Amino acid sequence: MDFYRFLASRTDRMKASEVRELVKYSRRKDIISFGGGLPDPASLPSKEEIVSAIEFISSLGDRAFQYSPTSGVPELKTELAKFCRDKLDIKASEDEIIVVTGSQQALDISSRILINQRDYIITELPTYIAAVQAFNLMRPNYLGVPMDQDGMKLECLERSLRMLRENGLKPKFLYTIPTCQNPAGISMSMDRRKHLLELASKYDFIILEDDPYSQIIFKQFYFKRLKSIDSEGRVIYMSTFSKIYAPGVRIGWVVADKSIINFYELAKQFIDLCSSSINQYIILHALQSNLIEKRIPLIVQRYKKKCELMYGLLKEMMPEDSVWTNPVGGMFIFGWLNEKINTKKLLIDVIEKYGVAYVPGASFFVDGTGWNTMRLNFSFPDEEQIKVGIERLSKAVKEEAKKV
Ligand SMILES: Cc1ncc(COP(=O)(O)O)c(C=O)c1O
Repeated sequence: MDFYRFLASRTDRMKASEVRELVKYSRRKDIISFGGGLPDPASLPSKEEIVSAIEFISSLGDRAFQYSPTSGVPELKTELAKFCRDKLDIKASEDEIIVVTGSQQALDISSRILINQRDYIITELPTYIAAVQAFNLMRPNYLGVPMDQDGMKLECLERSLRMLRENGLKPKFLYTIPTCQNPAGISMSMDRRKHLLELASKYDFIILEDDPYSQIIFKQFYFKRLKSIDSEGRVIYMSTFSKIYAPGVRIGWVVADKSIINFYELAKQFIDLCSSSINQYIILHALQSNLIEKRIPLIVQRYKKKCELMYGLLKEMMPEDSVWTNPVGGMFIFGWLNEKINTKKLLIDVIEKYGVAYVPGASFFVDGTGWNTMRLNFSFPDEEQIKVGIERLSKAVKEEAKKV
């Protein structure tokens, strides 16, 4: 049967993410995958922690198996307010917080409650592909702002803002991952953070601050989260336990002005009623017993080693005209190859002939550029795989460079 005729027209914007497609390679033994964004398996909860979480859940009686309030299990929200204050320097009361089913749900809800068709949305170039997929359903226009090693180039942003203003337009929001960006591994400098907030005030837009990686910092880097220096309430902050506990629990949270949080709650009511109560209690237990606090330094230590290893090998083995970001934290290194190399075309060959996978960078660029770029994940592969994988990848890139 031709099922396509029954589909809503907005499905034309639904495309499979190349990143999700590549996750399957992370399970194939013969392929070294730098493709997905998976945490190091050794950083996931240990057997003892799992047993302790199950004991905690069973001590709660039926509570963990019931529906919970849409905005989140109250004890978890209290713990989150504390976590935000103590660990993130973000002051928020319980009614300025909503628990969500991974920060991906926060992106989806943001899209539903903020975007009208043809609204202008500003993103970094490159930016997180699954955010763009969530926004795409509402059919916005994008303005991409290039980055350098200090984050978004704000002179380019201001040029775009002026251009919009001259045409009687305003952006709806600016989406940024200011710390250890996915995919670029770049972090915004403190001066730019302050300046960005000034621009938001001057040109009247709000900022979505997506912050999954800022606790995984392994180099000296001074920063404050945009939300913590936001004096006008323009920042909607979202984060997640995916990278500091386990992505499988699918628990994240949003901090914003109470009036905005109310709309996140209204939208969430008809999306999933509430996030998994059991999983919220698992996170509550992990926070209350300091498991997350204890785990973060171990993650930082492991990722630092892996990142330094990968970056060193890239500098040593890749062609001299390639450029690689040198992140202060997070899970990704991003690279620009010779402009004649198309990393999307190259990928199949690299997987089949060399047994290594990466994410071609073009899909992270909302302006259709980035054909010569790639994202490499260093958290999931082990050190031996990083050594062998980068050696294979550099051979493949050098071979390709001879052909173009
Ligand atoms: C920038 C960014 N935002 C959001 C997410 C989604 O995270 P979650 O697992 O909480 O849905 C990710 C996951 O990789 C991410 O990198």
